[in-house]
Amino acid sequence: YDYDLLVIGSANADLVVGVERRPGPGETVLGSELDVHPGGKGANQAVAAARLGARTALLARVGDDAYGRLLLDAQQAAGVDTAGVLVGGAPTGVALITVDPSGDNSIVVSPGANGRLTPGDVRAAGGLLRASRVVSAQLEIPLETVVEAVRGLAPGTRFVLNPSPPRPLPPEVLRACDPLIVNEHEARVILGVEPVGEEPADRARALLARGPRSVVVTLGARGAWVASAQGAFPVPAVPVDAVDTTGAGDAFTAALAWRLGRGDALADAAAYAVRVGAAAVTRAGAQASYPTPEEVAAL
Ligand code: RIB
Ligand code: NA
Repeated sequence: YDYDLLVIGSANADLVVGVERRPGPGETVLGSELDVHPGGKGANQAVAAARLGARTALLARVGDDAYGRLLLDAQQAAGVDTAGVLVGGAPTGVALITVDPSGDNSIVVSPGANGRLTPGDVRAAGGLLRASRVVSAQLEIPLETVVEAVRGLAPGTRFVLNPSPPRPLPPEVLRACDPLIVNEHEARVILGVEPVGEEPADRARALLARGPRSVVVTLGARGAWVASAQGAFPVPAVPVDAVDTTGAGDAFTAALAWRLGRGDALADAAAYAVRVGAAAVTRAGAQASYPTPEEVAAL
């Protein structure tokens, strides 16, 4: 394989404002100065993996504009292969982000060019898919584009999906996931109304019964649960002081995907990924906060 990881997904300019508290309907609050960072769940994953040492490529679409150039520059600076980043068709995606004093964020995404990443773009990038050991995706791009990626996987290639923002998934996509990576909110949406137990382990097992080869339920500061044919296991958290949780889940997913591709067992890869995600919440921003292997080891 030429690439340890191919990320198929979104690239957004993150417009970030710190707030004491979020406004309610009809209310105005004053926030901090505006920060503009490269972001987007796909672009974040690619930078996180490359910073850890993975040979990484990104398949995405940005606008022919200043934000698009910001995103491409950030990918290239991290060492990501951007031959698969398409330019034009709509303005670059934008994420409007507020971060509160506890480090938690709220995000509204205007997809822009991400919404124009088509199944045809995936078919045209077939060589990239076949050259990649692991392919990962999220849902800030059209679902039919993710479906096409699943159909284009080479037999030996592993597929990892973080269905964020969540929506119900077709069985064809669920069956390809190894693992499906969800937080508790995403788990509820994927499972729909079907009643399951209250425990994260119950959710992980219920999701596994929907067809994925493996499942990871992330619990933020409480670590994660993994489930596969080998059973369900907790992955302990690494306690850190949270500054900004934005993009920590993307770093977790990228780290997990890369370590699985290297042959790690699911629980070991998840334990490593928890450390990468923990490191990312200790610094502001998404891509800017992603750790090197030395920083993960020092945690
Ligand atoms: O997961 C964090 C990301 O979500 C941000 O970078 C923002 O762009 C949104 O896509
Ligand atoms: Na961060």
